[in-house]
Amino acid sequence: MTGGKSILELAPGSPPIRDVEDGAPKTREFNTSRYTSPQILEREKDLIFRKTWIAIARESDVTRPGDCLPIDELDESLVVVHGEDNVVRTFRNSCRHRGTRIFSGPCHLRRIECPYHSWTYHLDGRLIGVPKREGFANLDKQTHGLLSVRTECWGGFVWITFNPDAPPVREYLGALAPQLEPYRLTDMRPLYRRTHVLPCNWKAVLDQATESYHIEAVHSHSIGRVIDTVATFYGLDPHHLQTIPIADYRWRAWLDRLTVPADLHFEPDQVRLFHKYVIFPNTLINVMPYHLTVFRVFPITPDTCRFHYEFHIRQKANLVDRLRGWLTLMASLYILREDFGVLLPFQAGAKAAGNHRIPFHSEEQPLAYFHGVVDRYLEAGTNPN
Ligand code: FES
Ligand SMILES: [Fe+2]
Repeated sequence: MTGGKSILELAPGSPPIRDVEDGAPKTREFNTSRYTSPQILEREKDLIFRKTWIAIARESDVTRPGDCLPIDELDESLVVVHGEDNVVRTFRNSCRHRGTRIFSGPCHLRRIECPYHSWTYHLDGRLIGVPKREGFANLDKQTHGLLSVRTECWGGFVWITFNPDAPPVREYLGALAPQLEPYRLTDMRPLYRRTHVLPCNWKAVLDQATESYHIEAVHSHSIGRVIDTVATFYGLDPHHLQTIPIADYRWRAWLDRLTVPADLHFEPDQVRLFHKYVIFPNTLINVMPYHLTVFRVFPITPDTCRFHYEFHIRQKANLVDRLRGWLTLMASLYILREDFGVLLPFQAGAKAAGNHRIPFHSEEQPLAYFHGVVDRYLEAGTNPN
């Protein structure tokens, strides 16, 4: 079979995301410096990553009271803790005595104890033990609990925000929340997960996962040979969605009968179409009734990022589910390897380009939308009025 084609359509009512090259009014321009500038990255960290909700873990990472998961991202050292009251909290991974880092890896504890002078904390963060306490003049235990970061659980993810004014996470997700509810994502458990440090800007990973223009060149030996689809784009500001038909191969209906959970109620399109959501700013999920793929990407420097890849199947997956999961996972990893191969040349070239204006192809329209949202957050933070 020769190379197929992939087309992108705009869903009716979706906000315009015009290509600046297509003769339509120029609403925005995007330059290569957005991938390379240290100043832009600092503004993104302050005005996007510290203002929105960020998925930092899965609830299944801290299932039992006492489970603790340290996370180092966004220049922060944090720890997610499942409390005795079944509340999942996030704290700064730093003792309130002289600041020592308390957690160095995932663990299960009854009490949190600093390795330096053994201050101890309850799982809810309260300071409960100070050796030789009489040696401190006026130490108030009440005000020396672990410092907490605002945390909510939704859809099986643990979300944090550094923004005291952010709306609840469900409200932040907007139209995504009711769309995702039928999938009962809390049931999904990882079949496979890996973290990679990639040699590119954090936005480049999401770009690559949301445009189909590169498929024939980069995936000419894999999906480029067979893909012939029309993706539909929906702007769900600040998030977005693409729905993509998947091949109706011979065994599909039989497999669906065995793997789509009978107790969940999906729209026909949720069974028929692959749903690719970008949850602004840094999470991408591909959802099917029986699979969940999660990309989470965090900036390190303008030229490097940390990429967390996870592939989930349902907690009570049967043998057919598992087999379908493994086969899909193997194909996904092959495609991912092909994608990784162009990230370094992309980043090196973006750096060499200086400040070159980027013409987006019609199949790169989701990028124009995403980068438009990024710029809006940066502008709103710079000119709050
Ligand atoms: S630094 Fe933690 S107890 Fe001293
Ligand atoms: Fe790709």
